[in-house]
Amino acid sequence: MPAISVEATTFALFGALGDLALRKLFPALYQLDRAGLLNGATRLLALSRDGGESEAHLARIDEALRRYVPPHELDERVLDRFRSRLQYLTMDFRRGEDYQALAERVDPGLPLIAYFATPAAVYGDICRHLAAAGLAERTRVVLEKPIGHDLASSRVVNDAVAEHFPESRIYRIDHYLGKETVQNLIALRFANSLFETQWNQHHISHVEITVAETVGIEGRWGYFDQAGQLRDMIQNHLLQLLCLIAMDPPADLTADSIRDEKVKVLKALAPIPPEKLSQRVVRGQYAAGTVGGKAVPGYLEEENSNAESSTETFVALRAEICNWRWSGVPFYLRTGKRMAQKVSQIVIHFKEPPFYIFAPEQRSLISNRLIIRLQPDEGISLQVMTKEQGLDKGMHLRSGPLQLNFSETYKSVRIPDAYERLLLEVMQGNQNLFVRKDEIEYAWKWCDQLIDGWTRLGDVPKPYPAGSWGPVASIALITRDGRSWYGDL
Ligand code: BG6
Repeated sequence: MPAISVEATTFALFGALGDLALRKLFPALYQLDRAGLLNGATRLLALSRDGGESEAHLARIDEALRRYVPPHELDERVLDRFRSRLQYLTMDFRRGEDYQALAERVDPGLPLIAYFATPAAVYGDICRHLAAAGLAERTRVVLEKPIGHDLASSRVVNDAVAEHFPESRIYRIDHYLGKETVQNLIALRFANSLFETQWNQHHISHVEITVAETVGIEGRWGYFDQAGQLRDMIQNHLLQLLCLIAMDPPADLTADSIRDEKVKVLKALAPIPPEKLSQRVVRGQYAAGTVGGKAVPGYLEEENSNAESSTETFVALRAEICNWRWSGVPFYLRTGKRMAQKVSQIVIHFKEPPFYIFAPEQRSLISNRLIIRLQPDEGISLQVMTKEQGLDKGMHLRSGPLQLNFSETYKSVRIPDAYERLLLEVMQGNQNLFVRKDEIEYAWKWCDQLIDGWTRLGDVPKPYPAGSWGPVASIALITRDGRSWYGDL
């Protein structure tokens, strides 16, 4: 039996036949049901504008579960129970009249969770109509990214939602915050005094955050080409990771204490002026190449592409946080599509010891590194220096890991998908893992100045072959500082 009891809710999913809902949200809800974490009285409403037979739409959801839930986790009894909770309703989200049918299906005694898996341009309309239908009172709204494409447009969306819902009932998703190892960053930093005393410019030389993907655009060219990797990944996921690494200890674990600390980091991020852009930021775009032994097309040759596009699919940059803790410590961020390997990791490089007494030729070995692997093979490894074993080795040093591999150490424990945790947190009314309005805005403000700089300079992304680690310039970005990206093969 699960150790927590979760209150009953009506869960209304707007955009229920979209890719995100079918691939991630329904499987996550199913997993919660399987784990006994959906209250027996919880009802699920699948809302979409697709008309026709409800049965056919419900069958699509069923199909998606069979496709995206691993076969050994499909349990026919749970599937039956899940189906019995689920209803389908055709709605035009922009038409007020359609919300009456929704109101009739919502249990007035239970909180309503309204999850918007739709373009952000309709969030305002949905909120307005929910309120007009008398459904705003006990409702928590969940907003998917991207919220806008710059500061101004994100304000329009946030303000439209705020007209009907207080911040305490708005849940902005950044699915990276639901990942198990990202959660662990808080435990690692603030439950171990060992690290916290070293966590500053006196002891850390630099930090790397890499989120590399092997996938390309996956049929999303229309959306992606308007966004690009900076808006799609840096503005949210990578800046959130940077905040969790760089923030000061919060006073407690409440949502606002954590968010206050994250906002301080975002405020302290130094802008990168146009004259420094070429030295400090590299944009790339993948050309044809080979990924995992398979030939793949370049970005400009993808389905529905526009051969003129100068949208970036890769960004590497050197950020600086101007505060007492981090002054002089570069944060190198890097993310791209169609890269050599799927890996998300954070590497904290500690400074060399203040005085060196070992053989000079081994000097380059000497520095501790903390490697936090978010995916795949979730785990944490601390590279420490030891002496090589053997009578003939003298004081010959080697760097080896003190390792915590979550998948091996906790073999029998399943690592939940980020969306399972996030949906559970919404059902529990807990905002810790969601992004506050000011966080989004400071993140946009910082990204906007980069985009403005590129536009002013007429910057064109540098090509890189699919299956590589990005443009050569991204290697130069870090080698200029006498360093290299950790672990590139
Ligand atoms: C999404 C981006 O937010 O995150 C996608 O829009 C990206 O472009 C995805 O592929 C990566 O998520 P994950 O969990 O696979 O690292």
